[in-house]
Amino acid sequence: MTPADDPPLYYSSHVFCCTNVRPEGHPRGSCARKNSVELRDYMKDKAKALGLKGIRINASGCLDRCELGPSMVIYPDGVWYRYTSQAEVDEILETHVKKGERVARLMMKPEDGPTKKAD
Ligand code: FES
Repeated sequence: MTPADDPPLYYSSHVFCCTNVRPEGHPRGSCARKNSVELRDYMKDKAKALGLKGIRINASGCLDRCELGPSMVIYPDGVWYRYTSQAEVDEILETHVKKGERVARLMMKPEDGPTKKAD
């Protein structure tokens, strides 16, 4: 089986928003303590209001980039964002999800960390 045999994408954009919560004062922090649950709910409602088709906005468990969060990753692109406001969610929806472009200033890069563990 080769990648050419893969079925077509089920979602054109599949968005995962970490909604993990850890105890107050945990050294890594957690996205839910940085408003990710409310922002993910807002994003889901806004995507629906915009009439975006073929996409899905999911809550996820910890994506292991807690210190940088709230963390979001969009597949199949594999682009990570840190988002902290409804305005930033709007920008990600309009620019990335709708137009297929990027919101460069909100993107997390591999060098932003944390360092990946060896497999
Ligand atoms: S708690 Fe959100 S990435 Fe870990």
